[in-house]
Amino acid sequence: MATTHLWHNARLATLADDTGWGLVEHGALLVQDDRLLWVGALDDMPAALRAQAGVQHDLGGALVTPGLVDCHTHLVYGGQRAREFEMRLQGVDYAEIARSGGGIRSTVAATRASGDAELLAGARRRAQALMAEGVTTLEIKSGYGLSLLDESRCLSIARQLGAELPVSVRTTYLGAHAIPPEFDGRADDYITAVCAWMPALHAAGLIDAVDAFCETIGFTPAQTRRVFVAARALGLPVKLHAEQLSDQDGAALAAEFGALSCDHLEYLSDAGVDAMRVAGTVAVLLPGAYYFLRETQLPPVAELRAQQVPIALASDHNPGSSPGLSLLLMANMACTLFRMTPLEAVLGITAHGAHALGLPDRGRLVAGLRADFAVWDLEHPNELAYWFGHNPCRRVVAGGIERTP
Ligand code: NIG
Ligand code: FE
Repeated sequence: MATTHLWHNARLATLADDTGWGLVEHGALLVQDDRLLWVGALDDMPAALRAQAGVQHDLGGALVTPGLVDCHTHLVYGGQRAREFEMRLQGVDYAEIARSGGGIRSTVAATRASGDAELLAGARRRAQALMAEGVTTLEIKSGYGLSLLDESRCLSIARQLGAELPVSVRTTYLGAHAIPPEFDGRADDYITAVCAWMPALHAAGLIDAVDAFCETIGFTPAQTRRVFVAARALGLPVKLHAEQLSDQDGAALAAEFGALSCDHLEYLSDAGVDAMRVAGTVAVLLPGAYYFLRETQLPPVAELRAQQVPIALASDHNPGSSPGLSLLLMANMACTLFRMTPLEAVLGITAHGAHALGLPDRGRLVAGLRADFAVWDLEHPNELAYWFGHNPCRRVVAGGIERTP
């Protein structure tokens, strides 16, 4: 039988439900294999369970939270877009750059020109930076390949990262991210190709969910619908880059397909909020992109809150709109820029992030869930959204096994 580990002398922030931090003093976590067998104050642990603890780890009173979940990233790509950043500072806007063939398309060219080893090495470095801050689950989208071969390469690299690093990786097929040059002026034909590639990529075990970019500089709602219909036919859940730069009623469309999440949402309407509430779709807010594109339209946090739509936060790491690699900075910016509370922000990078990926088995410290947790050099979990520009993560346990953060 596997050794049972007792992690004790901790201040737990269990986030057991959404109403508070779920603080437990003198807390303990009993871990068997990759699961939490028991969570609570050490004194309350049944003696029979305590007797099972083969290895004991004294946490010295440190704060422990669920492992962090980054539910929206584009980690696999070639090159970078610092020159485009300079252009934007000279007054050219993001959409203009995209329309003139730069933006996503320039990253597609750089990605296609990169070898697998190079793509893997870049994505690995970025994943490790996120992991150093306590990330134990990571979503990675394709979307910079835009051909069957290159989407397959990017998704395979994401899968490979999950196999070689102590982090859970979920992969999302974002073939409908932009129109590649060989389909110039033929968006509908490109969508036909995106849908046609999906069964092969799925059969190869490369897709956990399907995403699209529904926007004036992306795809229309009708084209997005075609992608969703293809996903549904394969039993794949959908997500959507929705209402980032304009209101396309994308969220309502995604909700119609029972989307796991709608992401960005600065231009989300009340009707969109309502559709998401009814469908149980998570709102993934991306303060990094909001900040880096100097967006001024705020996502409707008050309406989402009032309608009890769960709000997650993610890094949206990508070379164009959010080149940051700190989920804690996203939590901080969600508070300063979006006026979310620290509790909402921390739920956003744990339980609600997991919810946005359709993973109810993580994101909280509750018996039966995965043993994914982070140990912090902090007194209170509200500090996770307070400090920025330094990393207080000291230890990480992912799937029951301690790793170097
Ligand atoms: O999530 N909005 C579309 N996709 C990315 C940005 C892609 C890029 O600029 O390379 C995003 O912000
Ligand atoms: Fe994105």
